[in-house]
Amino acid sequence: MNPTENHKSYDELKEYIEKVKGNQGVLIGVLHKAQEIFGYLPVEVQKFIAYHLNLPFSQVYGVVTFYNFFSMKPKGKNVINVCLGTACYVKGAERVVNDFEDALGIKMGDTTKDMKFTLSSARCFGACGLAPAVMVNEEVFGNVDKKKIEQILKQFGG
Ligand code: FES
Repeated sequence: MNPTENHKSYDELKEYIEKVKGNQGVLIGVLHKAQEIFGYLPVEVQKFIAYHLNLPFSQVYGVVTFYNFFSMKPKGKNVINVCLGTACYVKGAERVVNDFEDALGIKMGDTTKDMKFTLSSARCFGACGLAPAVMVNEEVFGNVDKKKIEQILKQFGG
């Protein structure tokens, strides 16, 4: 993100905050908006939110670290969500995680250096009949094995 874009993003966030400020329980909504704008929630953005909502930074930070849909690390272009729901777990989700980790050379929760992929986990997304399932961005893949992983990474430019 270049500095001008960054500046615009802060403006957009500030505008949003001005609109909702004063209402009850707006923090989560503001954090969602900020994550949508910036892609993640670095400390500087959290400080900006705390300042403009007149909240202590510790409260903002506490919420960000409590909910796992908020991320303090930048995400890659493609987010691979390995389902760890019961049906997928029974059918070998753990192995799928390991195989993705090996293929990408990163650990669960991390992003590749070239920012192409983030490896993440998810709860059941309703594709249990295809277990073990994986969702890449919005696309679901079922019966995931090593070969499928290779195909997925190729399809998304790995
Ligand atoms: S348990 Fe994985 S999609 Fe339902």
